[in-house]
Amino acid sequence: MTDKNPLGLKKIHHVEFYVGNAKQAEFYYRKAFGFSRIAYMGLETGNREVTSYALRQNRVNFILTTPLSPDHPGSEHIKQHGDGVHDIAFLVEDADHAFHEAVKRGARAVEEPHDHGDENGVVRHASIATYGDTIHSFLSYNNNNGHNYSGPFLPGFTAQEMAGEEVGIQLVDHIVGNVELGKMNYWCDFYRDVMGFERYITFDDKDISTEYSALMSIVMSDGGHNIKFPINEPAEGKGGKSQIQEYIDFYRSAGAQHVALLCKDIMHTVGKLQENGIEFLRVPDTYYEEVTDRVGEIDESIEDLKRLGILVDRDDEGYLLQIFTKPVEDRPTVFYEILQRKGCKGFGKGNFKALFVSIEEEQRRRGNL
Ligand code: FE2
Repeated sequence: MTDKNPLGLKKIHHVEFYVGNAKQAEFYYRKAFGFSRIAYMGLETGNREVTSYALRQNRVNFILTTPLSPDHPGSEHIKQHGDGVHDIAFLVEDADHAFHEAVKRGARAVEEPHDHGDENGVVRHASIATYGDTIHSFLSYNNNNGHNYSGPFLPGFTAQEMAGEEVGIQLVDHIVGNVELGKMNYWCDFYRDVMGFERYITFDDKDISTEYSALMSIVMSDGGHNIKFPINEPAEGKGGKSQIQEYIDFYRSAGAQHVALLCKDIMHTVGKLQENGIEFLRVPDTYYEEVTDRVGEIDESIEDLKRLGILVDRDDEGYLLQIFTKPVEDRPTVFYEILQRKGCKGFGKGNFKALFVSIEEEQRRRGNL
């Protein structure tokens, strides 16, 4: 716990989604995204409140949770938002410290620190609120209170392995929050003042605007640049509805817009994902005629990029390859980014224009532009 890391955050431990039918969602993440099921809780394991599946691919952990009664808070979450991100949970040095420090710095408490245990040991757990109905949990395995846990995932879960065919997804690179018009600075201040994050990159509406719709974005990052949370807000377009406003209208509040998943060989990963039926946004083929002029020489063949629909951008330090899925539920809300970094620390600013033209095309088809 230092000035740069006042809450003692170590990394993103997992992302938990509330979903309408975890059994079917788990099948999708396993069969299409290549995650493996590692643990389960539900009626068969003595949990009468929820069913949860813990999924893992390399260093990415997801939990898919469906409440078993209408009184569970998750049921209201699903009613309001559809399937979506409920918790971006951190592994911390000491959950008690992280929670009390965050609350002292202005966070709204959701769950006071408590022991969360089973026969495999105890994890200390607490949580605070962030944008919309999204929360940040703090989890610590070993701390001053002598907590320790040696089970398959987290207390309450029973090991239940069902291997997926992994596609090479390695790590969460960043998670983007969409917030209401005029609230971007508020939430950036929250990440600065409460979490000790710093401003990493700012994009204004001149960077991110097309004929119709626009957005503004500030990327907040922890001091070590391991955890990056861009915050988007809608901006006035030239007569159309911002894609961020479309999200907020359908999510019915601020919320997590996309989870960006880092891989080492994007050609392989995206090839597999497409084979598995994941649908991606496509930019017009003319994008690839201009790409070498914009980014210079790259290791990959432009023909391969074009075939898969992968985008490229460059900064002073290198380049990145990226692609975005279409929303993964019926509401036009949460989607995924698959990216590979070859030195570049940016977010693909050079692709915003091309990308937003295709996003708007999708919006128009949905009657939401
Ligand atoms: Fe992104």
